[in-house]
Amino acid sequence: MEAMGSITINGVRCDFSPGQTILQVANAHGLSIPQYCYHDGLSIVASCRICLGEIWSPNPRAGNALEPYMGGKLMPTCQTVASDGMVVHTDSPKAVANQKSVMEYLLINHPLDCPVCDQAGECLLQDYSFEFGRGVSRFEEDKVKQPKKDLGPHVYLYADRCIMCTRCVRFTREVTGTSELMVLGRGNRNEIDVFPGLALDNELSGNVVDLCPVGALLDKDFLFAQRVWFLKETPSIDGLTSSGDNLSIHHNDNRVHRVKPRENLAVNKWWISDEVRFGWSFVHSPDRLASAFRRQHGVLVESDSPRATREALASLRAGLDAGKRLGIVLSPMLSCEDAWHLAKAALAINPVAVFALGPVPVQGQDRTYPPGDPNGFVVRAEKAPNARGVARVLKGLGLKTVAFEALVKDLASGIGSLILTGNYPSDWAPDALLRALDRKDRPRVLLIDTLRSRLLNHADAVLPGSTWIEKAGTFENASGRLQAFEQAITVEGARAEGQIGLDLLAAATGGSPGLFNAAETRLAMAEAGLPEFADVAVPRVEVRHEAEMVRL
Ligand code: SF4
Ligand code: FES
Repeated sequence: MEAMGSITINGVRCDFSPGQTILQVANAHGLSIPQYCYHDGLSIVASCRICLGEIWSPNPRAGNALEPYMGGKLMPTCQTVASDGMVVHTDSPKAVANQKSVMEYLLINHPLDCPVCDQAGECLLQDYSFEFGRGVSRFEEDKVKQPKKDLGPHVYLYADRCIMCTRCVRFTREVTGTSELMVLGRGNRNEIDVFPGLALDNELSGNVVDLCPVGALLDKDFLFAQRVWFLKETPSIDGLTSSGDNLSIHHNDNRVHRVKPRENLAVNKWWISDEVRFGWSFVHSPDRLASAFRRQHGVLVESDSPRATREALASLRAGLDAGKRLGIVLSPMLSCEDAWHLAKAALAINPVAVFALGPVPVQGQDRTYPPGDPNGFVVRAEKAPNARGVARVLKGLGLKTVAFEALVKDLASGIGSLILTGNYPSDWAPDALLRALDRKDRPRVLLIDTLRSRLLNHADAVLPGSTWIEKAGTFENASGRLQAFEQAITVEGARAEGQIGLDLLAAATGGSPGLFNAAETRLAMAEAGLPEFADVAVPRVEVRHEAEMVRL
């Protein structure tokens, strides 16, 4: 954006772009001005009044001498557009007195139940109380008590913690266009509510919990699950759909507790869909494959990974007599790095192996929010994160792929052995595949998957793979954007498919297996003719504490 001039905020000179408000300029320069109702993704209502500042503006008719702006009234910095030469103070005695008054006002009816509030530790009311609040309350009357409400499938409202910033109401009006929420009542009796007969039930509903600057709107799944200061944050990418939405995985003791959006204006802005926010629960499913299996006397028996890998290789090779070929189905749920190592292993086992991209689930059509906005946030119909990335890797290796359906058809004739990869969040095998594997002359099957499924009945060996949360890698989203993600937690028994590929390659060539490393794999891919992987940036966590952007 073209710089238009500069203003001075609390003694710091800041350049600004046309149309930016003073608060936006401060946020962009990492200056701290308290703010509740302002949010980059919503309209500006200037209702909480905590961001007010004293402003002086140059008067061109008086030789640009500084004069009190708007007669010297405190002005909302979130709503006042910056103009060249302005001098703003949000740290002057008058501005600080306002901040203290706003805090005292907001806490009059607040229940002060931080010890049992999920927001404690990441609450702006706590932070600004610490900065501007009084140590004791002067309020002696009875507080207004307000109810707890079940707003919808994912969200509770603890109404007496609400500071009436209306971010949640504006979100349902301006982003989802569903308008379920409203402000009911007046004065100290006003409260957030759903319209009669409606629930907060839109596919972006979880975002209101992120938007709420206090502990009024709560994620049902996260309710009383963890104190937030125990959580570690790992930057990640949507591993369930083709959106490429930027995420933070919040976890502790190797368990995921919640998923939140990371701001990326070029991809998901500030939002994620509920599907992406809550869809990770299969990661801790009791149906996870937690050990390798090999078929012995017709039954699958548990095995250690090295032995299962060796026997899987022997079984795959045994199926390749009489000119039959190895087939390999690379799932669109795999990372580019996984696909790279598995493809190389398949070529080492059978140089004329047949490659197919696994089924790419599509549900309905893409939906945009706000509805009709071509630059809006998109919920993708394609429910796999990396169909394009897997195809890109195979193309980079100079391999031609056949359609999954064609490969399934060929199972009765040309394919003697098959490597199947899944990693979908639910049972994924189409009936046609199961029917083909039901035949007596079925190929030898190595199944690499994350969840138990009907495919176990048809596998000669099973190697458990890890979900995207348990490994690092790269996905290419529906817009062709390559984005890296990091490993958040570890998992017992399962390995990244990239590691399984390296182990298979070592077993096939008699070498010793390398250790899977996503960053090194990207460099190897870049050197082998896929230069775009050299530029994939590894994300870092941004702790966004409203005005303060701190990079860890
Ligand atoms: S519930 Fe939260 S987001 Fe909604 S108005 Fe109250 S404080 Fe603001
Ligand atoms: S009035 Fe400016 S942030 Fe609320």
